[in-house]
Amino acid sequence: MPGLFDSYELKGVKLRNRVVASPMCQYMADGDGVVNEWHRAHYAGLARGGSGLVIVEATAVSPEGRITWGDLGLWNDAQAAALEPVVESIRWAGAVPGIQIGHAGRKASANRPWEGDDHIPLGEPNSWETIAPSAVAFGASLPRVPREMTVEEIHRVQGDVVRTAERARDMGMEWLQLHFAHGYLAQNFFSPWSNQRTDEYGGSAENRGRYLLETVKAVRKVWPESRPLSARLGVIDFDGRDEEMVGDAIELLRAMKAEGLDFLDVSMGFNTPAAKIPWGKNLLVPVARRVLEATGLPGTTSWYLANEPEEADALIREGQMDLFTLGRPLLAEPHWPYRAAKALGVEKAAWATLPAPYAHWLARYR
Ligand SMILES: Cc1cc2nc3c(=O)[nH]c(=O)nc-3n(C[C@H](O)[C@H](O)[C@H](O)COP(=O)(O)O)c2cc1C
Repeated sequence: MPGLFDSYELKGVKLRNRVVASPMCQYMADGDGVVNEWHRAHYAGLARGGSGLVIVEATAVSPEGRITWGDLGLWNDAQAAALEPVVESIRWAGAVPGIQIGHAGRKASANRPWEGDDHIPLGEPNSWETIAPSAVAFGASLPRVPREMTVEEIHRVQGDVVRTAERARDMGMEWLQLHFAHGYLAQNFFSPWSNQRTDEYGGSAENRGRYLLETVKAVRKVWPESRPLSARLGVIDFDGRDEEMVGDAIELLRAMKAEGLDFLDVSMGFNTPAAKIPWGKNLLVPVARRVLEATGLPGTTSWYLANEPEEADALIREGQMDLFTLGRPLLAEPHWPYRAAKALGVEKAAWATLPAPYAHWLARYR
């Protein structure tokens, strides 16, 4: 079995190793969804750190789809023009550029995490009306009741996702991740906590999955066959209905695979404050294995809380995960891949994580 520092190929895309920089919102745009100096430095740094794939943060498909006013967006030309150099800088450093696109649903219009992480009351600066499948609030620090979407609005948002995918395609993103997790719009449709519709988009598991499945189908039509189409789905909420939810997720993912989904990032729902998450090492690995085996999709997960190189390498070598996805450890140490490769004794791979002006010197520096 290959290890963490063996290359990985999917469709026409080849990663230099199996470390992935997970999408991480920076909340640093100026209210216009446009990339600025912060994002340019951040993504160039992540890519220079040696990961095989760098996925740009959750990027909104429409203004009301932002989690906070500081989110990136990709619904207009100015946003696309500003993001293009980020694609280039990731590629220059030897990583594959990817992007996660999504809509925040009933969790939108919030303060930035370090400014409260709570809903901004409607009418105050930087607030906007939130929309979701049903007029049901998340609760806790996100108490705003969203407006129930009409069917026309559902189709409009799906069109926004498709147009955003087209922009990502045209700027050279090579890996697209649809954000179907974490209590945002797609997860709102999937979960009975937030979806109480009585039309074809609510009720049965099949109906609750319809928005997601239709979106995959529509995006696949515009996203090139040679580039991986992936999704991040919350398959478990730790809310007492876990078996049912995992079963529903497996059925839905099988249908998505049939419509052209290539890869899965298994995550949590974060769709109810009633969740009791049993935080611990490799929390999601067993459920991720189960879902990947049942669907036949290649994939990954997160929240390992065990980020030592040997552990990561073992997960890949045992065939548990196809890729090893990291978030916070890369904020602390973008060069984690370099350190990991050295720790694992794969010298050649270690140098391949670095651009020549670093590798040339460090190869001689013991
Ligand atoms: C600052 C920050 C921003 C995040 N933003 C996103 C995001 O945009 N999309 C997403 O799917 N997950 C997001 N996450 C979750 C991460 O992608 C990752 O799954 C999570 O941090 C767990 O992995 P870790 O233990 O390696 O950090 C974010 C996490 C952090 C810390």
